Amino acid sequence: MKLITSVSELQILQKELCGSIGLVATMGCLHEGHAALVKESIAANKITILSIFVNPTQFNNANDLKNYPKPIDEDLKIARKLGVDIVFMPQPEELYPNKYHFKITATDPLTTYCEGVSRPGHYEGVLSIIMKLLNLIRPKKAYFGEKDFQQYTLIKRMAQSFFIDTEIVLCATIREPSGLALSSRNARLNTEQKERAVFFAKTIQGNLTIEKMKHQLKTHDIQIDYIELHDNRLYAAVIIDDIRLIDTFTIKTT
Ligand code: PAF
Repeated sequence: MKLITSVSELQILQKELCGSIGLVATMGCLHEGHAALVKESIAANKITILSIFVNPTQFNNANDLKNYPKPIDEDLKIARKLGVDIVFMPQPEELYPNKYHFKITATDPLTTYCEGVSRPGHYEGVLSIIMKLLNLIRPKKAYFGEKDFQQYTLIKRMAQSFFIDTEIVLCATIREPSGLALSSRNARLNTEQKERAVFFAKTIQGNLTIEKMKHQLKTHDIQIDYIELHDNRLYAAVIIDDIRLIDTFTIKTT
């Protein structure tokens, strides 16, 4: 009999026994950003599971949820082409058997600004669904994009706090040649809105003061939710008509 009294020892043993599943959790409407996560997972794991679930609890705006693009056939085609082993596409009733009576709440300092303040309840929904997926799938690694850097960091800290034996891996934001970060919400932009979205991306990457950025965006009919600097990282969220776009990157210091 083996007696284990430390969590780290238990974790080492569990790793030896456990297979190699990589998880890419998505809400569908797959694009090259998701493809990059899938490719990293396929390169590092025996099995890659892609989850597609538009998680209702993380939407604090009913219209945003209703309008969220859901091109399921196209997504399945992309997943197959990328070489995903398993697509997990559950129904909300199954993932929330007790409705939403149990949830993960975070009071980490990261929740006190940007998305944490601007979208009340959003991170509770994200952390709750990710906890469910990590418990169900028990992946060795799970992959998240840098565009949602606050989300990635909170998931990583949650996994550490609850001794979840999954490595939370950060993957670089994929951008169009124009500089616009890829996002499922880009699918909702018409040609003119897309031009404003590109202007948004160029402006925040243009080495301007935050005040100047805000001024330029406003003159292009782009509504600013926030543009803030935290720990040498710029975070921005804007609304183009009713489409909300976010972006973030580290500020290079010379
Ligand atoms: O980034 C997303 O697409 C979602 O927030 C996630 C991580 C899949 C949770 O629903």
